[in-house]
Amino acid sequence: MVVIAHLSDPHLDGSPEALSRLTQVADHLRGLAIRPDVVIVSGDLTQSAGSLPPADETVLAAQNLESLLAALSMDVPVFCCPGNTDDRMAFASRFGLSPPIPGPVHQVHRLGQLVIILLDVTVPGHGYGQVTDSILAWLARQLDALSGDERAVLVMHQPPTPLYHAAVDGLFLRSSEALEAIITRHEQIVAVLCGHTHAALTTTFAGKPLVIAPGIRSAGVLLQEIREPGSPLTTDDVPPGYAMHVLQENHFSSQFRTLAQRSR
Ligand SMILES: [Fe+2]
Repeated sequence: MVVIAHLSDPHLDGSPEALSRLTQVADHLRGLAIRPDVVIVSGDLTQSAGSLPPADETVLAAQNLESLLAALSMDVPVFCCPGNTDDRMAFASRFGLSPPIPGPVHQVHRLGQLVIILLDVTVPGHGYGQVTDSILAWLARQLDALSGDERAVLVMHQPPTPLYHAAVDGLFLRSSEALEAIITRHEQIVAVLCGHTHAALTTTFAGKPLVIAPGIRSAGVLLQEIREPGSPLTTDDVPPGYAMHVLQENHFSSQFRTLAQRSR
């Protein structure tokens, strides 16, 4: 059995508010009677200031990445994929090749029989994600290398299908048909994990569970909650939360927890 804590969208920007919401989740995980075996963060780890020269934005993002890893330190591995608000150079410097190259950073990690494949589907400067031939080729190599008794989860920021979601349905993963075909062909993939919506959501993709963790920094407003066009699409009135996934042989289940509202 493997227990996965799935966090998403902490958007660390140097503000105490953002760090406090992430710390609340981390403290909760540390206090659990049964700790997770691994922590996955599905993107939007950091949030740029948006007004600084690119090199300064990278420095700031690198500092915020270190804050994230320090906050999540709990003697279990922490694996991260980037989201649309992450700085590609800062992410590559921390998690990619050395010296960093300003391209996408894909990762694969093994934890016993569990293989965690983190895809970088981000497009710098855009909120949507994009499946490319090079992503498909890299993924196919990882999947072809799986042994028969390994089980894989695929992690990426942007969901590959519309979700009846106000903010994200125009910014989901584009050109996902070929990705769907690859996932369909590989029985060892037990689930696809995403972020981006800032709301807990589940559906299926390529016949697998597609599970999206709630946002840590803020909550996404859902379509049925919008009363007026142009009203805000996120709110920080909702406290942070996370998903907990349990893999037992071929059985994959997900639980969701929203933490208590802290007094301000
Ligand atoms: Fe986000």
